[in-house]
Parts: sequence; C-alpha cells; structure tokens
Amino acid sequence: MELKIIKTENKKEKPSGKLGFGKFFTDHMFIMEYENGEWKNARIQPWQDLHLAPSASVLHYAQGVFEGAKAYKNDKGEIRLFRLNDNLDRMCDSAERVCMPAFDKEFVYDAIKQLIFIDEEWIPTEPGTALYIRPTMIATEPALGVHASKSYYMYVIVSPVGAYYANGLAPVKLFVEENYVRAAVGGTGGHKVIGNYAASMKAGEAAQKKGYDQAMWLDAKYHRYVEEVGAMNIFFVMDGVVYTPALRGSILPGITRRSVIALLKKHGIKVKEGNVDIRKVAAAADSGALTEIFGTGTAAVISPVGCFCYQGKDYVVNGGEMGEISKMIYDELTGIQNGKYEDKFGWVDIIKQ
Ligand code: PLP
Ligand code: COI
Repeated sequence: MELKIIKTENKKEKPSGKLGFGKFFTDHMFIMEYENGEWKNARIQPWQDLHLAPSASVLHYAQGVFEGAKAYKNDKGEIRLFRLNDNLDRMCDSAERVCMPAFDKEFVYDAIKQLIFIDEEWIPTEPGTALYIRPTMIATEPALGVHASKSYYMYVIVSPVGAYYANGLAPVKLFVEENYVRAAVGGTGGHKVIGNYAASMKAGEAAQKKGYDQAMWLDAKYHRYVEEVGAMNIFFVMDGVVYTPALRGSILPGITRRSVIALLKKHGIKVKEGNVDIRKVAAAADSGALTEIFGTGTAAVISPVGCFCYQGKDYVVNGGEMGEISKMIYDELTGIQNGKYEDKFGWVDIIKQ
C-alpha cells in the first residue's frame, strides 16, 4: 500500500508553558480506512476531525482499541522510539479480542516514523517530556445491530506531553476499591479496549472525591487480590522482594511492566509475579515489611505511591517518599529511553541520529 502525504498549509501555534498530558496535538495525523476486507487510503494528512455517522458502531457498542507509546528527542538531536513494535503487537491482539481486523505492523510503524519526522519540531526536549503516540482503531459502520463492524478507521495522533499526574513525580495516593471492579477473567481487561476505561471512571472519580488520585483495583471474584491502577501496573516491595500481580487475563500486560521486570532481574532483585493479597500488603505496611509501592505505564512512567487507603485506614508507604528501588528503576528506564544509558535490551529504535 502506498502512503500518501498531504502537508498542512496552516501550522498551529506550539504550546508554551506546562504541557500536561494529552492536551496539545501536532499539525498532522496518520489515517487509513478498512472496507471490503482490506485497509486502504493510507495517508498522513493535516490534523482534522473524523467523518463519522451518528450511527457508527463505535459510538454505540465501543468496538474500539488504542495504544500509547512515546518518542524522545535527546540533547544530541536523536529521535528515539521505545518498544513501538510491542505496542503494535498488543494493538493487533486487542483488535482480535473485539473482532477488529489486524493491519500490516511494519507499514504502520513506518507511517508513524514518517509522521514523527513531519512533525519533528513538536517533539519536546525538556526533561520528563516526550512525544506521546496514540494509535487508535474504531468501528465506523453505520448500523445499530450488535455485530462486528464491516468498516474501520485506524489512525495515529501524536501529542507533546509532560508528566501524566499533575504533581509530576510526587508520590500518588491510592484508594483500594472494594465494590466496583474494572475487569474479570474472561472479559476484556487484558486488552487495550476502549470500554475498559469508561468502566473504570466511576471508581476513579469516587477516589478523587475522597482525596485520592486513583483507585487501586482488586480482583472481580474475591475482591482481595490486587490487579492494577487506572493507567498503570503496580509493584510492591516487601522484605526486599518485588511483587506484582500475575497476568491472568484481567490485567493489561504493560510494556513498561515487562521492561521493569527485566531491569529488576538484571540487578539481581527477586521479582515474584503472582497473587498479591491486599490484606497481606496492609499487614506488611503495619509491620514495616512493605517499603515501596510504584506504578508503571507509558504515560505514568514510574510513579511512586506514597499512601493507600484500605477499609477506611490510610497506610503511608516509605514516609510518603519515593523509595530506593523506584528511584533506581525510574533513572534506568528513562535513561535508556533518552539515551543516557546504553540500551542493552534492544528496546529503543533510534530513527534519527
Ligand atoms: N494498565 C492500564 C489499564 C493502562 O491503561 C496502561 C497504559 O497503557 C498500563 C497498565 C501500562 O501499560 P504500558 O506500560 O504498556 O503503557
Ligand atoms: C498509556 O500509558 O499509554 C495509557 O494508555 C494510559 C492512558 C489511559 C492515559
């Protein structure tokens, strides 16, 4: 398939001041359409609204998937893509889970590279910033019957971003949610499906009203085993061992999670993937065995957790400060992403030297 490039004649003004997360978008976007069993009309075009019928099935039945990846520009002028192949693999897996078509990953990878080159001047360079890449696929068939759509858009928008949380690297406060659940085994929690996020909002808002940043999810059956947090996987350091919930279908298989496990193991730190019982975590917080909690995600990077509330009691973690392991992993992961450290894992694709 050919990639058509249509450049804008009206460049937007670049943001000045704090970027925040996902508020600004560049001058161009990638888009292609699926019809009659094939992808076509692949193009990079000026940023614009989508044409969508009010009856488009994504708007009614949430047949849609998305991804989040980042490109970094360092002080040598290199543009560095972190594990974008893994995002595109996961996107095709997510698409399969909700009966959407796969696409040619190499073609889309290359189109994303072209998009980044065209909008290169939008890549921020301040520490802690990146160009966030948001590939998205939605069902466009104008039909109200509940069935897989026959037509789709696959598009990629990019956004210069800073920290995901308003307070940057300051430790976040989590509320352990015991009533609502995000996902159950057999559902779509293990995939990056758009409906998962609508389902998570009520508990997230309730947590915020109580003064916490996000909800910490427990499993759907026993309401006892930790799953993950709004937009992050989660790690607990207890007695020097790092625990993280195992992937059993209801938790997103985070690419940052996978990277962090590899980094921890490289340092000889013991990592256990399994059931993380919230009662044991609370007991470990009381006894002093719990020394750190941190979340991981593309948007959230490494986010220390300073406090969690379980059954009406607040448990402070590491005096509310970022812990040693969290700091080390943050430094190493971001160092590999921006080129401060050598990438021995082959995670980074330097698309411009
Ligand atoms: N869990 C959820 C629900 C997410 O939305 C994300 C973000 O993508 C993550 C975990 C972290 O995944 P990743 O590290 O691949 O960004
Ligand atoms: C990401 O970290 O890329 C995500 O997709 C999280 C998002 C829901 C903000």
